[in-house]
Amino acid sequence: MSFGWEGEKARLVPIDRERHLENCYRWLNDPAVTEYLAIGDFPLSRLAETEFFDRMEKASETDIVFAIETLNGKHIGMSGIHQISFRHGRGTTGTFIGDKDFWNKGFGTDSARIRTKYAFEVVGLRLLVSGVYGSNERSIAMLKRAGYIEVGRIPRYWWKRGKWEDEVLMVAERP
Ligand SMILES: CC(C)(COP(=O)(O)OP(=O)(O)OC[C@H]1O[C@@H](n2cnc3c(N)ncnc32)[C@H](O)[C@@H]1OP(=O)(O)O)[C@@H](O)C(=O)NCCC(=O)NCCS
Repeated sequence: MSFGWEGEKARLVPIDRERHLENCYRWLNDPAVTEYLAIGDFPLSRLAETEFFDRMEKASETDIVFAIETLNGKHIGMSGIHQISFRHGRGTTGTFIGDKDFWNKGFGTDSARIRTKYAFEVVGLRLLVSGVYGSNERSIAMLKRAGYIEVGRIPRYWWKRGKWEDEVLMVAERP
C-alpha cells in the first residue's frame, strides 16, 4: 500500500482486516509483545480481535487507529489515538511493534513522530498523553525521542505478572 502518512522509516496506513487482523491476533497472544501492555494476560480470541477491527474500521470521533508498515509495505505493528476529546483537544496514544525483528530499530520512534504531526497538524489536537509501565524503559526512551516528556508517575498503578507497575505519564504538547 503506497498511501498513508509517511515518515523516514514507517508509514501509518488505515487498518484492513485482510492485511492486519491475523498478525494482530498472533502478536497480541505473544507474552513477549504484551509484557508491558494492559492486555495480554487473558487469551485474546480471534472473535475479540475481529470485534476490535469491527469497531475501529468504522469512522469514529474518539478513536483513530493505524497499522504501522515499513516503507516497503510490511506490517509490523499498530498505532492509535484513543479517547479523543475535541473539546479539550487531547487524545491518549498507544503503540506496539508486534514483529520483534523490528524492535530497537527506530520504527517506534518514527511512527510516534508521524502520529504526533498528524494529530497536531491534521486532526487539530494539542495534547497527546501516553501511560507507560514504569519498567518499560524502551517505550519511555522511544516516546522521549519522539518528543514526549514525563510529567508524573502514579505508584503501583498496575498489577502485571506478579508485581506492581507504576504508571508513567508522558505527554506531547503542540508548541
Ligand atoms: C515500545 C516500542 C513501541 C518501541 O518501539 P521500537 O521501535 O522498539 O523503539 P525505537 O527503536 O524507536 O526506540 C527505542 C529506544 O529505547 C532504547 N531502549 C531499548 N531497550 C532499552 C532498555 N532496556 N532500557 C532503556 N532503553 C532502551 C533504545 O536504545 C532506543 O533509544 P535510543 O535510540 O535513544 O538509545 C516497541 O518496542 C514495542 O512495541 N514493544 C512491545 C509493546 C510495548 O511495550 N508497547 C508500548 C506500550 S506503552
